[in-house]
Amino acid sequence: MTAASDDAPELDGDHLDPDPIRQFEQWFAQARDAGVRQPEAMTLATVTAAGRPAARTVLLRGLDQRGFVFYTNLESAKAHDLAQQPHAALVFHWREVERQVRVVGPVSVVDRDKAVRYWETRPRGHRIGAWASPQSEVVAGRDELDRRVADVERRFAGVDPPLPRFWGGYRVAPVELELWQGRKDRLHDRARYRRVDDFDDNASWIIERLAP
Ligand SMILES: Cc1cc2nc3c(=O)[nH]c(=O)nc-3n(C[C@H](O)[C@H](O)[C@H](O)COP(=O)(O)O)c2cc1C
Repeated sequence: MTAASDDAPELDGDHLDPDPIRQFEQWFAQARDAGVRQPEAMTLATVTAAGRPAARTVLLRGLDQRGFVFYTNLESAKAHDLAQQPHAALVFHWREVERQVRVVGPVSVVDRDKAVRYWETRPRGHRIGAWASPQSEVVAGRDELDRRVADVERRFAGVDPPLPRFWGGYRVAPVELELWQGRKDRLHDRARYRRVDDFDDNASWIIERLAP
């Protein structure tokens, strides 16, 4: 075990923020400070139309009280999954601090205006790539991708490629968020936040400790 995990505070009501998003932000900052590379990388699990699980890595690109935002192709396999079953699970693993965070919740499409604002922060090469790649479809080979990139470059020569209609963001709104802290002898700490809504849809969170 590393000193980091032995020294980590207990995952209990005295040490946890009552708000899971604020708690996540704290852990995220600590992961970054500890030198975790790409702490924003998260596994996104969806369910296919056939009821099978599907998982892949995406990058966390926004977070507020409404949830965790990532951007992708809206015609990709994951987008098809989310169209028919708008629920997802996320997993972050930050090895250097021996921490894992799991999130589960319903998914919605991010407002187009917000997606445009994010799109405009992306380098031109990324935008060209997004236009050129029919994400998740079968392609004949690298040549086909290169040809598509050349076509898109010609199409948008001298202008900024706008946000394609097939590209945007999704937001996972947590109803459960679990923190996992590695500890000695595999007696790891787990704390789960569970969202409960009152009759006026005001959210509050129950924090429970889970056995490792
Ligand atoms: C570190 C890493 C970060 C990634 N980030 C994204 C992302 O933010 N958005 C995205 O669409 N794909 C991202 N990808 C690619 C996806 O893992 C996946 O290949 C792609 O989205 C197609 O998934 P799908 O066919 O299940 O829809 C990333 C891959 C890696 C390894």
